[in-house]
Amino acid sequence: MVQNVLPNKTSCVYIRQTEALGLGHAVLCAKQVVGNDPFAVILADDLISGEPGALRQMVDIYESCQCSVLGVQNVLREETRSYGIVKSKAAGPRISHVEGIVEKPVPEQAPSTLAVVGRYILTPRIFSLLESVKPGAGGEIQLTDGIAALLSHEKVLAYEFIGKRYDCGNKFGYLQATVEYALAHPELKERFLAYLKSLKL
Ligand code: G1P
Repeated sequence: MVQNVLPNKTSCVYIRQTEALGLGHAVLCAKQVVGNDPFAVILADDLISGEPGALRQMVDIYESCQCSVLGVQNVLREETRSYGIVKSKAAGPRISHVEGIVEKPVPEQAPSTLAVVGRYILTPRIFSLLESVKPGAGGEIQLTDGIAALLSHEKVLAYEFIGKRYDCGNKFGYLQATVEYALAHPELKERFLAYLKSLKL
């Protein structure tokens, strides 16, 4: 089952970020492996269910626009301090042109409530820009700041993907994902539902 997950002719290369210097720094660690190609960043703690998957939807957009695409979702204004938030202008259904992006703004200063949630398709120009990004929010090298720099060179789109996102970076979101995936799993759902009912909550 595990072997079948990997598509044919795909090899895995693992790179370790030896110091926790931020997401931008983590992406920069992959520079030599990615080379001069567009690439995707998937933050595994943002689990997104959807058919087709969120990244597949974004690749389709990349294929027609040939520019960076950020996966975004509307969040509550009081939650902006947990995300990269974009300022953007509508460009089509679910698509907007990114005009600005800021990392974890306080609600009063957030340019919108459109948050980047763990899916990015980026052009390789981001690497040279990340090399000169100074530590930002939380003292870390932020991918958001690299993307902000990219905006002066290239078009960047924000795309409101279709799908449900679970924030597995917090305990409650992780539990929600576990329960909902179990209840949707063809082999497990009946037994799991019976188990939940047996708890007589
Ligand atoms: C990171 C990014 C942030 C993004 C978020 C999505 O933050 O820095 O821009 O909105 O992931 O989950 P983190 O959750 O690592 O603090």
